[in-house]
Amino acid sequence: MSVEDCKLIDLPKISDPRGNLSFIEGGQHIPFDIKRVYYLYDVPGGSDRGSHAHKTLHQFIVAMSGSFDVVLDDGSQKRRFHLNRSYNGLYMCPMMWRDLDNFSSGAVCMVLASAHYDAADYIRDYKEFLTMTTRKA
Ligand code: TYD
Repeated sequence: MSVEDCKLIDLPKISDPRGNLSFIEGGQHIPFDIKRVYYLYDVPGGSDRGSHAHKTLHQFIVAMSGSFDVVLDDGSQKRRFHLNRSYNGLYMCPMMWRDLDNFSSGAVCMVLASAHYDAADYIRDYKEFLTMTTRKA
């Protein structure tokens, strides 16, 4: 997997003077079935989140409110994405180191995930991540 496999995906947007509506269907708008939803909120200014990779998990991340940056790193290439719209999001494939920073005040970061929470799926040591990605290259 490379950062080229991770991309911004535009979501359907039903524009309406009463308020816009977007939706996400697993396997339709994003390339996996949704098993879990979690969200970050009340993020203090200057905070960083993430700093890990997942062995098998697929995720899709949306800035539901405000904005933040996601830096993806496949072990040889890094790419920074700025998320600030509720009608698009970033697909993150497995084996991708991610750092989240530059949170605006009031930012809400929603993440859709392909599996239930499993601590064993995390790689939290960057050196170990590099060893694993180099071995696979
Ligand atoms: P973590 O994934 O490290 O947060 P982030 O990547 O956003 O910085 O998770 C932080 C803590 O929350 C950690 O103790 C595990 C726990 N957690 C759950 O219990 N369930 C979940 O679905 C998630 C995402 C985290």
